[in-house]
Amino acid sequence: MGRFYVTTPIYYVNDVPHLGTAYTTIVTDALRRFHQLLGDETFMLTGTDEHGLKIEREARAKGMAPKEFTDAISDRFRQAWPKLEITPDRFIRTTDADHESFVQDLWKKIEQRGDLYEGEYEGWYCVGCESLKTEKELEQPGNLCPLHKTAVERVKERSYFFRLEKWQQPLLDFYARHPSFIQPESRRNEVLSFVQSGLKDLSVSRTTFSWGISVPGNPKHVMYVWFDALSNYRSALGQGDLARFWSPNAQVVHVVGKDILRFHAVFWPAFLLSAGYTEKELPNVVYAHGFLTVDGQKMGKALRNSVDPLRLAGELGPDALRYHLLRAIAFGQDGDFDHGALLERYNADLGKNLGNLLSRVLGLCIKLTDSKHPGDDPATDTSIEGDLDRAFEHASSGAYAAWNTFAPHVALEHAMKLANAANLYVDRAAPWAEAKKDNRARLEKILSRLLRVLEALSVMLWPAIPTKADAMRAQLGLAPLTPVAPTALTTPHAAGESLWPHALPPIRQGLALAPAGPLFPTFDDKAQREILERLMPKPPAEHANLTQSSKPMTSEPSHASPSAPTASEDQTSQSPVIAYDDFARVDLRVGVVKTAERIPKKDKLLRLLVDVGEPEPRTIVAGLALSFAPDTLVGRRVVVVTNLAPREFGSAEMDGKKVKLVSHGMLLASGPSDNLQLATISESAPPGARLK
Ligand code: MSP
Repeated sequence: MGRFYVTTPIYYVNDVPHLGTAYTTIVTDALRRFHQLLGDETFMLTGTDEHGLKIEREARAKGMAPKEFTDAISDRFRQAWPKLEITPDRFIRTTDADHESFVQDLWKKIEQRGDLYEGEYEGWYCVGCESLKTEKELEQPGNLCPLHKTAVERVKERSYFFRLEKWQQPLLDFYARHPSFIQPESRRNEVLSFVQSGLKDLSVSRTTFSWGISVPGNPKHVMYVWFDALSNYRSALGQGDLARFWSPNAQVVHVVGKDILRFHAVFWPAFLLSAGYTEKELPNVVYAHGFLTVDGQKMGKALRNSVDPLRLAGELGPDALRYHLLRAIAFGQDGDFDHGALLERYNADLGKNLGNLLSRVLGLCIKLTDSKHPGDDPATDTSIEGDLDRAFEHASSGAYAAWNTFAPHVALEHAMKLANAANLYVDRAAPWAEAKKDNRARLEKILSRLLRVLEALSVMLWPAIPTKADAMRAQLGLAPLTPVAPTALTTPHAAGESLWPHALPPIRQGLALAPAGPLFPTFDDKAQREILERLMPKPPAEHANLTQSSKPMTSEPSHASPSAPTASEDQTSQSPVIAYDDFARVDLRVGVVKTAERIPKKDKLLRLLVDVGEPEPRTIVAGLALSFAPDTLVGRRVVVVTNLAPREFGSAEMDGKKVKLVSHGMLLASGPSDNLQLATISESAPPGARLK
């Protein structure tokens, strides 16, 4: 029996769960489930990263205290994951008291080691990355962060420094002795050349804001958010019983996106070594996966938020989403999430291949074996059983190796090939013909072999599609594999016993089957089109096309006035021609939504604070409430008409006070009021920039 400890990054609470963060978390959950099947003791960790300048600013923009703000968003993450069948053993928050005291201890250990000193730091800081950037890294013009495409800030302040340079050689030695520490290989090479090119001491505290863990003995300083955040992987386990998951005989795996590999593969082991951890006590693997695009487009914040994993799971079931993400994207590489491909794969792999195999076999058993597992005499096997057995062995060993080498996409491909081979076997063995000939022994063999393959598939697929795999097992008359909460740490079977089907499961003669409806009902063309219409974000060309609609709005919901055109009229009707000067009088500006909130008793309206480049953000009242959850708007770049006369929308009780609802601008959008698409603009456009 082994021990397996697997972590996701802890997510910043300036964003809600989206497809990218869901992807990392689903892969991590699937890896942990694979190890549960092996009989390993497992521990899965996820959580939220709540300190730092980015979060402090975000909270301030919403007019909230940082803790109140982080409580709310952290909860969104905590509640989202179980809906995707993700069951972490701990959901850590960097504001948890045990985490904070662990981090302060770690700091003290590093200080005692002589690896911290006070100095002054000056440089370009990207608040999005929470990291300093070198001049070379910046994109010109505009000193933009290459990742966030937003302008970096010049900072100069007193700071503690960590002697990272001192750890350059020990890190290189460690990488050489542990070639599997950084995976995949291509990423490892990137980190090696970064470290070989020379490490500079790292600024690890800030004095210009206060939302962080204070430095022991010098509370003017708060710790650098990455020092605080990385420590979560160790603080989550504490010093008690759970510390067994951080020991030389546990496998510790950090799953991260490629954007944050350097922090995990360079800073984190250096902090640990400095604090006195030995090489054997460092994590075993940091696996950096690629980035997702959606339908071929980069997932900026606006698009990310419109592809809500919970909506996808609500529409198709969490298993279908998990399966698609794990199967469609080669883990480690960038990949595209395509809505059409999701439905195609669902139909083909889950519906027509796996689901159909189960229905066919159970359908035959209802007719021919009184819904019981039949017996079999392997001595009478023919060559077609031989072919199926070989397909099974190849799939089982291939999928096992693939899960062990962080290749879920390959593991699932193997499982589907086996389902395909089993469907082919049904066609070749033609059990219905044997039934006609009344060849009972042969008929039973065929069905028994198929039931055993189905059982093996239910195990091989469980890490990816736990609920459906268990539903499949129920139809086969077998107990579920999912451990019953709260004993999530262990599998339901005897600890140490591996359930992986290295050989075909036993013949279960006499066991009652429990056939039920289709496991994955397929969608015909019409149903697919309807689902896509409900799910797909509109292409960005439509978002940004300001000339297309004659009725860009939306200070007010379009159907507020009885004469307002419908969405389809909107697309066809033409406005009268105007002179250029008329157009030039409209002041269109880039805005960034800072806060968005519902208005009591006005179910169509939202009150927004929008930064349009002025000293104070503007209050805009907009008819967006039927199309957007307020949180999903925060941070979005919008197009604002800034020189419209202020407009009043009555009054409302807000924050215990009666306030007048006055809008000082209008956002551009298109579509019906319950499916509005906001006109958007590239993330590099600064607030206040004029559109012309
Ligand atoms: N808080 C830090 C991590 C600290 S870990 C000690 C952070 N948080 S984050 O909220 O920005 O989340 C980053 C992670 O989310 C990425 O590393 C990646 O795992 C995941 N993803 C975010 N967008 C993604 C895609 N478009 N595609 C795939 N994964 C993405 O950085």
